[in-house]
Amino acid sequence: MPNSAVSEAIEILRANDRGGYTIPTARLYPYQWNWDSAFAALGFSYFDRARAWRELDLLFEAQWADGMVPHIVFRRNDPDYFPGPAIWQSGTEPQSSGISQPPVAASIVHDMVVRGGVADLNRARALFPKLVDWHRWYLAARDPDGTGVIGIVHPWESGRDNCPDWDSGMAGVTIAPDLGPYHRRDTDHVDPAERPSTEQYDRYLTMVKFGRDCRWNQAEIARNGPFFMADPGIHFILTRANRDLLALADRLGEAEAAAEIGDWIARLEAGAGALWNPAVNAFCAKDLRSGTFSDGLTNASVLAWYAGAGTAHQQEAMLAETRRILDRVEYAFPSWDPDHPAFEARRYWRGPVWLVMNAMIARGLAECGHGDLARRIDADGIRLTDLSGFWEYFDPLIGAGLGGPAFTWTAAIRIALAHDATGKRAA
Ligand code: DGY
Repeated sequence: MPNSAVSEAIEILRANDRGGYTIPTARLYPYQWNWDSAFAALGFSYFDRARAWRELDLLFEAQWADGMVPHIVFRRNDPDYFPGPAIWQSGTEPQSSGISQPPVAASIVHDMVVRGGVADLNRARALFPKLVDWHRWYLAARDPDGTGVIGIVHPWESGRDNCPDWDSGMAGVTIAPDLGPYHRRDTDHVDPAERPSTEQYDRYLTMVKFGRDCRWNQAEIARNGPFFMADPGIHFILTRANRDLLALADRLGEAEAAAEIGDWIARLEAGAGALWNPAVNAFCAKDLRSGTFSDGLTNASVLAWYAGAGTAHQQEAMLAETRRILDRVEYAFPSWDPDHPAFEARRYWRGPVWLVMNAMIARGLAECGHGDLARRIDADGIRLTDLSGFWEYFDPLIGAGLGGPAFTWTAAIRIALAHDATGKRAA
């Protein structure tokens, strides 16, 4: 591991610091994004603990009264990004988007406590009730019928925006006739071939309009909104986050909360079965309106190990698929199956490698006894940043850096990898 790579990663985190919160990258994403911010805290935790906690405190400062932690926090208007606060109209202070994002924070808090001391435990104690409120919100607002399966109301909520997972649900969205002309900013900063299409943006904005028009009534959005799909990514990340939250509850002596969290884990474990698609031999996204499965394996499917989900048969079948995909690419782990016709090596979540997903996949694999695969995935992350630098995502076939440069979460994972490159580190 060249020390210069870690120094460069630390410099990126410092440069993206906007005074207590970290933007993902200048211009393309000039605000605080939920899971980006939690991973920034993970990165900071290796060299500046106080700054890491500050990041999380500021994220939770934006928590809604109902418990939701929004996917973007808008602390000031920045014309470099669209859609900004004027489109979302959250009516909150600080202003924010009206949907959430993968709940990785509890796992990162737990990791910081495990690696930390009394001061860390005290900071975690202050955040604990907020984490519980957020997870409770997820179970209520994104599984309103108590099925044990977590849905998302917008592809942006998954964090895997334009993955083919969402194509069927997106096809069911009728583009609002009164969206009006709008100017996307992302394609001013990044090659359009690496970003979602215009038609996808029309649908994304239609979903935002529905939420805005009903004043972000989350029950109404889940019941009657244009899009509601089960997401194995959020489902598995929340399952794991609940396990880590339960471990925190035990450390903090929070018995009542521990009982409630234990119930959530049981509910999500039971629900995971509904995401198993035997045609693909993997856990897949599913349209909760039509029952239609997505038909490809993604980097979210292989978070099953991270969540401790799946029967012995399912895990065995998925292991074979995982090995097939690893043999197929130079750099793991692609966000969509390279043998599927919808695979695109350069387009955002339709093929490229994302190091934050790799970190969680590798950790799960290592914990489940597949250390060889975890080491391969970790090594690929190091090779990618050594080859191309700290890009938002990477081409799994040739390793080219894609999307935004000097990217916070890629730098954060590189720092974590330097401390433990065996797939056992946080998140
Ligand atoms: C974007 O603007 O591409 C973001 O991913 C939305 O959260």
